[in-house]
Amino acid sequence: MIGETLTLQSLSKRFGRTVAVEDVSFNIAPGEFVSVLGPSGSGKTTLLTMIAGFEAPSSGQISIGGRDVTAAAPNRRNIGMVFQKYALFPHMTVHQNVAFPLRMRRFDRPAIKDRVRRILDLVQLVGFDDRYPNQLSGGQQQRVAVARALVCEPPVLLMDEPLGALDKNLREAMQLEIKRIQSKLGATVVYVTHDQDEAMTLSDRVAVMSGGTLVQLGSPVEIYHRPQSPFVAQFVGKMNFVDGECQRDEAGTCHIRISDSITVAASSPSSDGADRLQQGQRVKLAVRPESLSFAQPDSATAIPGHIDAEIFVGAFRLYLVRLATIGQPIVQIQLPASTSVGPFRRGESVGLHAAKEDFHVFAAPEA
Ligand SMILES: Nc1ncnc2c1ncn2[C@@H]1O[C@H](COP(=O)(O)OP(=O)(O)OP(=O)(O)O)[C@@H](O)[C@H]1O
Ligand SMILES: [Mg+2]
Repeated sequence: MIGETLTLQSLSKRFGRTVAVEDVSFNIAPGEFVSVLGPSGSGKTTLLTMIAGFEAPSSGQISIGGRDVTAAAPNRRNIGMVFQKYALFPHMTVHQNVAFPLRMRRFDRPAIKDRVRRILDLVQLVGFDDRYPNQLSGGQQQRVAVARALVCEPPVLLMDEPLGALDKNLREAMQLEIKRIQSKLGATVVYVTHDQDEAMTLSDRVAVMSGGTLVQLGSPVEIYHRPQSPFVAQFVGKMNFVDGECQRDEAGTCHIRISDSITVAASSPSSDGADRLQQGQRVKLAVRPESLSFAQPDSATAIPGHIDAEIFVGAFRLYLVRLATIGQPIVQIQLPASTSVGPFRRGESVGLHAAKEDFHVFAAPEA
């Protein structure tokens, strides 16, 4: 195990008036794989370049293995980095590219030869030593970049959208490859992506960023099933949103009224401050397409609506239903393709049902 703890404390970066990263703190365990997920411009690359030492933070602290490296030069941090554009040296062979960091660190010839051979074996590129980058496929170049980042066995490995340039099949193959290499070496990894599937597949934990701040850090399951804000709820997976209003009963339990006649019991413990909602407060009720199912339209617990479309998507069927509530939002329902409901006529009345715990309740943003 070579991984070390990585700790960020109140890390911020401003470029003039732009706040690229704001007050980000987290602690990554040795050997842990954390993805940083967020839309374009949310500060992912800036965060990584500060950890790597290419940008100095405006404030805050970075420690690796308990050692404060905030002011240390990049080559003093013992970090491996893979950039989005591979950044291989075009005039160097595969062997020379991978050997480069070892030469910079003045390893002797036999040690360089031995290490390069072992790491090329790990990324399955034995026999490619004398090729130049332009004689390699995208995936092979990517593996050279990974090999070069790993050859010094850095305790911390940073990757910035390393698979962004690859097509879907190659990307998925490389994801498994990266995971395999990482778990074999035990390196601590921070992996930037804006692909939520990739983040979910690879990570022990996912750090979701928005507008420079860390909005949620948790396991893929937590991020998916217990989003703490509407932003995370809609950014990860698909989510339906319906407007409503909190109505407290005598026991103080909050029910969500979504129209004059329809009130939904929502007990989601994950919802952001649902216990702090006031009587009459505007809320957003969120539910995932696969959590909804059809019920009798006249059932007391069903949300009534009308079929707008029925779409066959291979592994599942997607139904679009226009709700008979304020604003008449269209929600998506996803059922396994083998489900024996329907076919429906367009405009047919249906009822929708979801388990109490599958509804998430968020305070509506102030208008
Ligand atoms: N050198 C710089 N000078 C000024 N502003 C910058 C600089 N680098 C980044 N920014 C700004 O900081 C914010 C965060 O940028 P960053 O590159 O970290 O985003 P990102 O999450 O990596 O986005 P993407 O997914 O598009 O790569 C953006 O608003 C960007 O314009
Ligand atoms: Mg970026």
